[in-house]
Order: sequence, then structure tokens, then C-alpha cells
Amino acid sequence: MTGEIYRKPVMFAIVATVVILIGTAITMFIPMLTPQMHPRLENLKPFTALQLAGRDIYQREGCNNCHTQTVRPLKTEVMRYGEYSKAGEFAYDHPFLWGSKRTGPDLARVGGKYPDAWHYRHFENPQAFFAESNMPVYEWLKDNKLDPAKIEAHMKALGFPYIPEDIELLKDKTELDALVSYVQVIGASVTKKAVPMATPAVTEKEHISNPFAGDPKAIAAGKNIFAKNCAVCHGENAQGDIGPNLTDKAFLYAEGDVPDDDYFEIINNGTTPGMIEEGRTAKGGMIPFKDTLSKDEIWSVVAYIRSIQGK
Ligand code: HEC
Ligand code: HEC
Repeated sequence: MTGEIYRKPVMFAIVATVVILIGTAITMFIPMLTPQMHPRLENLKPFTALQLAGRDIYQREGCNNCHTQTVRPLKTEVMRYGEYSKAGEFAYDHPFLWGSKRTGPDLARVGGKYPDAWHYRHFENPQAFFAESNMPVYEWLKDNKLDPAKIEAHMKALGFPYIPEDIELLKDKTELDALVSYVQVIGASVTKKAVPMATPAVTEKEHISNPFAGDPKAIAAGKNIFAKNCAVCHGENAQGDIGPNLTDKAFLYAEGDVPDDDYFEIINNGTTPGMIEEGRTAKGGMIPFKDTLSKDEIWSVVAYIRSIQGK
């Protein structure tokens, strides 16, 4: 009796198809209809009209042919790019832009990494930052105005909330504004950690002095390191540009000098908005160099900055 079905090929094909369809339907519909299987990170927000416009440009320009937007849970990737990707951060990504090729670095954690001004300048001329970069120049995006009607239609189609003023605002924006706005929100639901409520009372810390203070060799080395890594933001002569002037007596927007190791710390660790250092509040945008520069290199840059201060 049990062997019977094997002798009826048509019947067998029908039964097999039905069984496979039932299995397929179950594995498709259960996850589709179970809300717990669509996690959403607490900080995640739908794209704004401007961000969505930028995302459209990202797709149109094929940025995903050179950049991925996903950090795999491997130690090397996490060390290089930051917290690995979570399912819950992509709930509003239609379609996903994970990509599969890294000619350029992964961008999953790029939001908030640099100030806006850095991105404008980088898109206008990547080679000014990294001579070897093969990233195309996107300066022309600033000549293209956005089309609010088209973006509104896209917002509607995706069901993202907006008010008429949001669409109105798009009128004066360029495609470059939109792209920067989008890049700054990539991964923000993960990287935006709650700002610590109260900073603990500053206890007297032991200050470490610069082992290379005044050493002419270190100052020369520091000058080179500065030109390569810092000049893009602080200006060629360290007199300020995207980042503040380093040659004056102010540190984080307040007058009054601070010890060398505060310089070391800010170069090593970077800053986040609202961070307090020596009683001064940072605005954010200084990137950390602990993975790119050695301790000796950082001390050399500090020696170099000291050598040009007040001149
Ligand atoms: C031909 C490959 C290529 C294309 C296309 C490309 N990039 Fe890049 N991108 C790179 C390379 C290489 C780097 C690293 C060097 C540099 O910063 O210029 C980079 C760096 C970046 C960075 C800085 C990342 C970081 O963490 O420092 C951002 C942001 C970026 N690209 C965004 C974009 C966007 C947005 C587009 C599309 C408009 C795009 N790229 C198109 C190759 C590419
Ligand atoms: C991506 C742009 C960027 C790069 C690259 C950069 N900085 Fe900064 N830096 C900033 C910004 C922005 C601030 C202000 C930080 C804040 O308000 O949180 C800052 C602050 C500082 C400060 C605090 C000093 C002050 O007067 O307020 C020092 C010191 C400093 N940077 C040194 C360096 C050195 C040395 C390098 C290179 C190794 C470097 N920076 C590279 C953007 C940058």
C-alpha cells in the first residue's frame, strides 16, 4: 500500500508539489506575520524627506558598487568599522543597500563620524583627502536642485511620515545636501548612544608629560603626521577650518591652556557632542586616531602643535 504512490507519477508529482508548497508557505508566512521577527531598534527613525532624497541619489550613483553597509560579526570587522550590524536597524531600508563589494570602506557606521563640512569637501574632491582614492568626484551634485514632488511621491509610497513644510524645505536644497544628510544618518540608530546624564565630578588626575616635548626630531615628524592626517580639518597651518585653530591659547572654545596629555587624549579618543574635557564642552567632530597613529606619533604631533602655538 505504501509503495502504491510511487507507481503513479502524476499523482506523486501533485502530492509532492502540495507538500513542498505547504512547507514554503509556512516558512514564508510565519515570519512575515510575526511582529517579533521584525525587530526595530529603539533609536531607529523613518527617513526624513531630505534623507530619503539622499538615499535615492546613493542608489542612482551606484555608491553601493564600491561601499557596503553591513558590518559582519567578526572581530576584525568590528575592530575596523565598529558595532556589527543588527537586523533591527534596517527596518526602513527599502531596498537594503548592504552591497557586496568594498572598493571603499564599509559605511554602516559612517553617520556622525565626521562633521557635515568634511563630507561636502570629500564629495567635492576625495583626492584632496587621500591622494590614492579612486572615489569619483561628486561636486556636480551641488548644481542639481531636488524635485520636491518626486520625493513626496516616494515618501508616500513608503509610508514615511512628513508634513508639507518638510517638502517645502526641499525646494532650496541640492542633491549634495541630500546625500550628506543621508550619509550622516547611516547607522545612527546604533552609534547614537544616550549621552551620559551626569559626568562624574572631575577628580584630580595624574598628568603625564610629553616624552618628546621640545625634541626637534619629534617636532619634524609631528609636522609630517599633521600634514597627512590633520590639515584637512584644521587647515594647513593649523589655524582652523572645519576643526578649531590649534595655534591659539584656547582649547575646546575656552581660553586657558591645558596640559599636554589632554591634547594626547583628544587626538587619541576623538570627541563626541556634549563630552566634557577639562570642564569644557565638546561639539563633536574630532575623529579618534588611536587606530591610525601610534602613541609616539601622537606625542610627536602634540610636540609639533606646541612648537607652533602663539606664533
Ligand atoms: C569607485 C569606487 C567608489 C565609488 C563609486 C564611491 N566611493 Fe566612496 N570611497 C571609495 C574609496 C576608495 C574610499 C576611501 C578613500 C576616500 O575616502 O576617498 C571612499 C570613501 C568614502 C567615504 C568616507 C568613509 C570613511 O569612513 O572615511 C564616504 C562617506 C563615501 N566614500 C561615500 C560615498 C558615496 C555616498 C558614494 C556615492 C555617491 C561613493 N562613496 C562612491 C570608493 C568609492
Ligand atoms: C574630520 C576632521 C578632523 C580631523 C581629521 C582632525 N580633527 Fe582635530 N578637531 C576637529 C574638530 C571638529 C574639533 C572640535 C572638537 C569638538 O568640538 O568636539 C577638533 C579638536 C581638536 C583639538 C582640540 C583643540 C582645540 O583647540 O579645541 C585638538 C588638539 C585636535 N583636534 C588635534 C587634531 C590632530 C593632531 C589631528 C590629526 C592627528 C586632528 N585633530 C584631526 C576635527 C578634526
